[in-house]
This record gives sequence, structure tokens and C-alpha cells, in this order.
Amino acid sequence: MKRLPVIAIDGPAASGKGTIARRIAATLGFDHLDTGLLYRGVGMAVIAAGKDPADAVAATAAAQGFNPASLDDPLLRSDVAGPAASKVAAVPAVREALLAFQRRFALAPPGGRGAVLDGRDIGTVICPDADVKLYVTATPEIRARRRYLELASQGSPLSETDVLADIEARDRRDMSRPVAPLGQAPDAHLLDTSDLDIETAVARAFSIVRAAIGT
Ligand code: C5P
Repeated sequence: MKRLPVIAIDGPAASGKGTIARRIAATLGFDHLDTGLLYRGVGMAVIAAGKDPADAVAATAAAQGFNPASLDDPLLRSDVAGPAASKVAAVPAVREALLAFQRRFALAPPGGRGAVLDGRDIGTVICPDADVKLYVTATPEIRARRRYLELASQGSPLSETDVLADIEARDRRDMSRPVAPLGQAPDAHLLDTSDLDIETAVARAFSIVRAAIGT
């Protein structure tokens, strides 16, 4: 049986990868998995249990009991969930517990046409054989500005300086952890969105994807 196409999109917070992944999936009729939501869900479950997301035992228990049915909870997009996610994501047993769900999604997406996964380690660890890999990035200042505007529209009290500090701390944690650190796979296409509006970024991503999978 022929394997369905898999598109892997990685990059740091607020690089534009989520919007690009959603738009590509919608246009091609593929299913999309925002894998950051899994880590955000685990982080928020740890907080709801009254524990610290950096507590490896609590984070592992939350990941092992995690139900992906709750991924559309708006709380997962909040300013508390991002830092909590990046702390639980550094725990190897948490990543291990979430691995099978992600691989199953890539292999057998519910719609049966293809899968787009976005995250930090999709091209390097989860789907190293993906048909096309994108590494989407932008400068920390530009990413902070985008995330600040998004959080402010949700009523977050964080200033742009707070958001930049969070993004820099998360980049450091995500890039320096020993297991599945954020990084560009050798065969990933680099897309720097610093000077691109989202429409241009999506169009560039599309031309890479179409050239690779011939849609
Ligand atoms: O992409 P998002 O900002 O929602 O991700 C939240 C956090 O989850 C990231 O900072 C990262 O630590 C973690 N993550 C990860 N691997 C993924 C997706 C997200 O480690 N595949």
C-alpha cells in the first residue's frame, strides 16, 4: 500500500509555521496536527494538578494519561501554556509518551489523504522520512511582535518586552535540551519569514511543497 504524503514543518515560536501548516493542509485537503498543543496540554494538566511543569515526575504522569481529544481547549493558546509546554517538553519521558500518537497521525491521518504536522522535531525525530520538510524561522524581535499582538487581542496583560523575554527563554530551552532539540533537519527547506507578510510566506511554502510532492 502506498504511504500517504507527509509534510513536516518545524521552527521556533511565532515563526509563522502554524499558519503555514494550517493553510497548506486546508488547501490540499490534508489533516493538520499542531504538535505544540500536545505539549501545551500536558503543561496545563500539570498546572491543573497543582504541580510545577518542570517537575519531571508530574510531567511524565500527565503525558502518560494525556487525552488528545482536549486539544481545542482555548486555554492551551494562553500565555501560561507556552512556557509550561516548553518545560514539560524537555523531559525525555514526556516526549516518548507523545511519540506514538504523532507517528500514528502521520501514518494514518483521519481524512485519508495526507498529513501536515508542525512542531519542533517533526522533520528530525517524528517523521524523518517526510516527503517535504520546512524549517520556518524569523528574528526573535519580529516573532515577539507577532506573538504580542496575538496575545494582546486575547486580553493578555503581557508587554512586548515580556513576550520577547519568553520567546528568547523558550528558544534557549528548546534548542539546548538534550533530547529532540529544535533545529533544522539537513534536508529541510529554510523559510525565513522575517521580511515576509503571511500571504507571501504561505505562497513560498506552497511552491516548495508543490515542487516536492507534485500536487
Ligand atoms: O509551537 P508551540 O509554541 O505551541 O509549542 C509550545 C512548546 O512545546 C515549545 O516551546 C516546545 O518546547 C514544545 N514543543 C516541542 N516539540 C514539538 C512541539 C512543541 O518540544 N514538536
